[in-house]
Amino acid sequence: MNRDVIIACDFASREATLEFLDRFPAGRKPFVKIGMELFYAEGPSIVREIKSRGHKIFLDLKLHDIPNTVKKAMRVLSALDVDMVNVHAAGTIGMMKAALEGLTREDGSRPLLIAVTQLTSTSQEAMQNELLIGATINDTIVKYAQNAREAGLDGVVCSPLEAGMVKKACGEGFLTVTPGIRFADAGKDDQVRITTPARAREIGSDFIVVGRPITAAPDPVAAYEKCLKEFV
Ligand code: C5P
Repeated sequence: MNRDVIIACDFASREATLEFLDRFPAGRKPFVKIGMELFYAEGPSIVREIKSRGHKIFLDLKLHDIPNTVKKAMRVLSALDVDMVNVHAAGTIGMMKAALEGLTREDGSRPLLIAVTQLTSTSQEAMQNELLIGATINDTIVKYAQNAREAGLDGVVCSPLEAGMVKKACGEGFLTVTPGIRFADAGKDDQVRITTPARAREIGSDFIVVGRPITAAPDPVAAYEKCLKEFV
């Protein structure tokens, strides 16, 4: 799998998103991530519109429900022709297998399917005290990644700092998609476990997901090119 930079298009509306994408020169079609806010505001039409402009799309809806519901929802997302979708690994191996089944088209093709292990906003303390999961957070991440692999998924979303341990447990071919990227000379915003595009490459990320360092930059196209240069 070729490394790539995915821009998190965390905008509230179609207009703001297209205005942002219009800044890129005609030949530059970045891989974009559409999350819940934009999808719930604009519906599937925003996915079709961005896709028709020639972008690859990671639809970040983090499905987590009973297997039958997830399977049917995945069938709908597969027909939208996105390139990558995700589920919560906490939904169990059975749910992840159902997701994969729903996603696979009649001709055998399908978008990449990746699992969220533990959200980077979940602390070990909250996991142990509120969710009564007694293991360490790193052991949970590795176990959830192994479950995702067993279910036949392509990889996981994790912190770039966790990509090495996931690769070690699940193999080099198991994809790591990593948010939490900042340039060396920038602030952290609300992210905690962060690293630079260059370091993410060294640790073994396949895809970095970059939001504000690109979307809020004075020159987003230059910031995107800088990410590509460091990472790809
Ligand atoms: O602006 P920033 O680069 O922090 O954006 C990162 C993107 O990745 C956001 O869309 C955020 O929701 C997403 N994300 C994350 N951590 C996760 C999963 C997704 O930051 N564990």
